[in-house]
Amino acid sequence: MDRREFMSWVGVAGVASSLPGVISACSSQNTQPPASPPRADGFQAVGTVADLDKNGQILNEKFATSKVLVVRDPNNTSQVLAVNPVCTHAGCDVGWKKDENSFVCPCHGSKFAADGKVLNGPADKPIPTYTAKVEGNEVLVKAG
Ligand code: FES
Repeated sequence: MDRREFMSWVGVAGVASSLPGVISACSSQNTQPPASPPRADGFQAVGTVADLDKNGQILNEKFATSKVLVVRDPNNTSQVLAVNPVCTHAGCDVGWKKDENSFVCPCHGSKFAADGKVLNGPADKPIPTYTAKVEGNEVLVKAG
């Protein structure tokens, strides 16, 4: 093997050895696990308490037929609240604003209370809520 062949081989080996990292970096954008299948009582695990406390919210886009956003209940932080985060105005995803105890839409500023009711338009319909609870380290939400 001459120098040129050796350098070519090293280049191929380098690219090949970096592929797992590249693939891992790409897939880390979507590390969210799907919600588990519904249990007999209808609840689905959508994330962990550790993730909820680390990020302040859990957004699971693979829940039932839509998405679910779970936050700590501002009135009782041992409880959790779950909503469908799709804004009823034009479909952007709302986010939880802890300092305002409300869900706020980034697109046109609609604001929803923790129970999903509209606080400020332009949205004029509440965002749907779900029954949610914590069991051990799991955050569970019941569809429907
Ligand atoms: S899409 Fe949410 S306020 Fe318009």
